[in-house]
Amino acid sequence: MRSLLLEVRRGEVFGFLGPNGAGKSTSVKMLLGLVAPTAGDALLLGHPVGDVETRRKIGFLPEHFRFYDWLTPAELLRLHGRLYGMPAARLRERVPELLDLVGLALHRDKQLRHFSKGMLQRIGLAQALLSDPELIFLDEPTSGLDPGGRRLVREIIKAQRERGATVLLNSHLLSEVERTCDRVAFIQHGEVLETRELEALLDGETSVAVRARKLPVDVARGLALWATAVALDGERLTFRVADADVLPDVLRYLVAQGADVYEFTPERQSLEELFLEIVGSDGGL
Ligand SMILES: Nc1ncnc2c1ncn2[C@@H]1O[C@H](COP(=O)(O)OP(=O)(O)O)[C@@H](O)[C@H]1O
Ligand SMILES: [Mg+2]
Repeated sequence: MRSLLLEVRRGEVFGFLGPNGAGKSTSVKMLLGLVAPTAGDALLLGHPVGDVETRRKIGFLPEHFRFYDWLTPAELLRLHGRLYGMPAARLRERVPELLDLVGLALHRDKQLRHFSKGMLQRIGLAQALLSDPELIFLDEPTSGLDPGGRRLVREIIKAQRERGATVLLNSHLLSEVERTCDRVAFIQHGEVLETRELEALLDGETSVAVRARKLPVDVARGLALWATAVALDGERLTFRVADADVLPDVLRYLVAQGADVYEFTPERQSLEELFLEIVGSDGGL
């Protein structure tokens, strides 16, 4: 039997990563009590799944949501606020604040049926933040968003972390995750393959691409002190270092040897590459 073991720490942004169909959304729905697991249990903020008081402290942006499309964004937020049991006075402040935050203030009185996918995603996000939740589930929050919207999601997530909230982020878009998460888990076929700190994960071997003129002919020998896989092709020099801390020394060496350096670009292994290494390039399908 496959089992999903997952522990998310308070106050962290946790990336739940995996290919399409891995079971990310289903896992979140089980945590929220929207899908009943055949076996197993989970605690949310220290309480069993389904505890009503705990639910008030949770925000959720579903992957595919359907809102009453005759409502305006302000009406939708007020409705959800009432469902959370928020007092009317608090909602009067909170609704305009959130519409502003997600960039929908100008559309506050337009019916949702006239909204684009990206605008709906923004109102979905606002709805997930409504009650200042302690724990926030965002299922593919950047889907359908333009670059500005994606940056907004990153900023929102950062602000939530600063406020002390815990964020669990489902994503198959790794470059988004790369910038926002503290830890990530890789899931495939309903099973967690790895959980790692993102810093440590991305801190491995670095490849460096250099463009320079007047490079010394024996540059490979000179760089051997720090680097491996040194290759020189005209003005292009590439090599790898085990630790990025040595890069200033390498650059000083090149300059001291009389090279005119135009570009010196470290390229870390991306989460994308790592992900493919862990789950396999077929995405496990
Ligand atoms: N633990 C599980 N046991 C059985 N079926 C699962 C499980 N997790 C997911 N599934 C099934 O796999 C499919 C894709 O799951 P989903 O959670 O939508 O994937 P993801 O969000 O990672 O793309 C769904 O049909 C779902 O019912
Ligand atoms: Mg999903």
